[in-house]
Amino acid sequence: MAILVTGGAGYIGTHTCVSLLDAGYDIVVLDNFCRSSRLSLDRVKKLTKKDFPIEEIDLCHEEHVQQVFQKYDIEGVIHFAGLKAAGESVQKPLNYYDNNITGTMNLLKAMDEYNVKQFVFSSSATVYGEQEQMPLLEDMPLAPINPYGQTKAMIEQILRDYHYANPETSIVLLRYFNPVGAHESGDLGEDPNGEPNNLLPRITQFAVGRIDSLTIFGEDYPTPDGSCIRDYIHVMDLAEGHVQALAYCQTHTGVEAINLGTGKGNSVLEVIQTFMRVNQLQLSFDIGPRREGDAPISYASTQKASKLLSWQAKRTLDQMCLDAWRWQQKNPQGFEA
Ligand code: NAD
Ligand code: UFG
Repeated sequence: MAILVTGGAGYIGTHTCVSLLDAGYDIVVLDNFCRSSRLSLDRVKKLTKKDFPIEEIDLCHEEHVQQVFQKYDIEGVIHFAGLKAAGESVQKPLNYYDNNITGTMNLLKAMDEYNVKQFVFSSSATVYGEQEQMPLLEDMPLAPINPYGQTKAMIEQILRDYHYANPETSIVLLRYFNPVGAHESGDLGEDPNGEPNNLLPRITQFAVGRIDSLTIFGEDYPTPDGSCIRDYIHVMDLAEGHVQALAYCQTHTGVEAINLGTGKGNSVLEVIQTFMRVNQLQLSFDIGPRREGDAPISYASTQKASKLLSWQAKRTLDQMCLDAWRWQQKNPQGFEA
């Protein structure tokens, strides 16, 4: 019996594959490599000293997805595969609805056909949209503000409806906050396609000389230093959260949305200062205008994860910044180099 990891070649997928293999699971990775490199999976194999099959398949091809379920004895699915750039989703909504929704539908049809009941889905804190109250609780009403976030909220609803019709299924909707950092070896990390949008990859690529500016988007938010506050979580903590979610699926039926965050917020300025301090680097950054669509503050309530999954994030912001820089220094051009 194996766990099917869709999008397993991506940033969170590779780190989770390491945690799953270390926990003794057999895995099958399905990815079309539209946003990742096959080389990332070579690193997973090298780090864990374990082998696993890789299926180069687009989830949007229903027949190909069915064939994977026919070929392997799949016990459960962790579904990372999807497009994730919020800004791009505003420009190309059809690509996002098509890829994320169709891909998930094909996966669910195959699971239904082959009687696979355990499902862990990569949702996102983006489903909350802008809320007045912090921390963000799982039962708050959802209010996504871009097509990417809409796909996540829609898939959550599809999964709730699917569970209602199939009460023996076990589904966990993991709402990630801001995943950052890298495997502590420095051999696995985030390797974004093209110029990065997210804060940590922008800091590391600026520090290594791949991009020529670093800007804080806005200094007039209602926060202590005026920059936005986010709940940054180490990608290995997140990976371990998936192993716990899978264990939960194996012993419960139902559908549960669960935040994966640290419960602590840090401002953009604090992140840059921490990165400079722990890595003993001096970076000259600018202050620019606000970026459209950014909520001033976002951080998780972590009680449900702690109660249901017996999981909590362990790694500090110092560690996130150290590991992110180790990865970038060892791999200045990412996997392909
Ligand atoms: P990523 O882009 O690194 O990985 C996604 C993987 O899915 C890639 O390897 C890509 O090639 C693959 N993929 C995309 N469409 C596919 C398709 N149709 N068929 C097969 N493979 C396909 O992203 P990530 O950061 O690892 O994110 C993983 C999941 O977590 C995504 O669903 C994302 O929306 C969600 N998420 C990410 C963040 C974040 O900040 N990284 C935050 C919240 C939620
Ligand atoms: N920021 C800067 N400068 C940069 C990049 C980002 O100041 O060069 C700021 C942003 O304005 C924001 C904070 O850093 O205040 C974090 O921005 P990111 O782009 O790293 O992350 P977001 O919080 O915007 O979004 C991320 C993922 C989403 C996911 C969300 C979940 O990109 O896909 O976390 O909370 F849904």
